[in-house]
Amino acid sequence: MATMPAVAATGVKTLKNGKTTVDLVANKVLAQVGGALELPIKKYGKVAVVRTSKGVKGFSVINLACPHAFVTVKRSGNGWVCSPPGHGSEFLLNGKLKVPPATTDLKAIKFTANSKLLTIN
Ligand code: FES
Repeated sequence: MATMPAVAATGVKTLKNGKTTVDLVANKVLAQVGGALELPIKKYGKVAVVRTSKGVKGFSVINLACPHAFVTVKRSGNGWVCSPPGHGSEFLLNGKLKVPPATTDLKAIKFTANSKLLTIN
């Protein structure tokens, strides 16, 4: 799988009920497995939507705050790394912990998806 940089989001709306929708047609980076979109959400802080498989629900939505001491992780290779001032934890693209000192995965956020729209709860 080729490494793709995470890109800024477009077609993002915050609904009155506090949910956030992401237009999957406008965000072409999410059409390919390995694509990631970073966006700030008032409710959670910085999150990423990651395309993890080809299925219509083949996404992960993860909070980019490192669970060790809450430094924001950055995209690196096929995952995420907690660079200084963080302490070097590494995570797989879907947020699973790969390298400590963090002891848990990046926090998964619930969502629903259809072919056109992903809704972050
Ligand atoms: S804050 Fe990420 S490893 Fe410490």
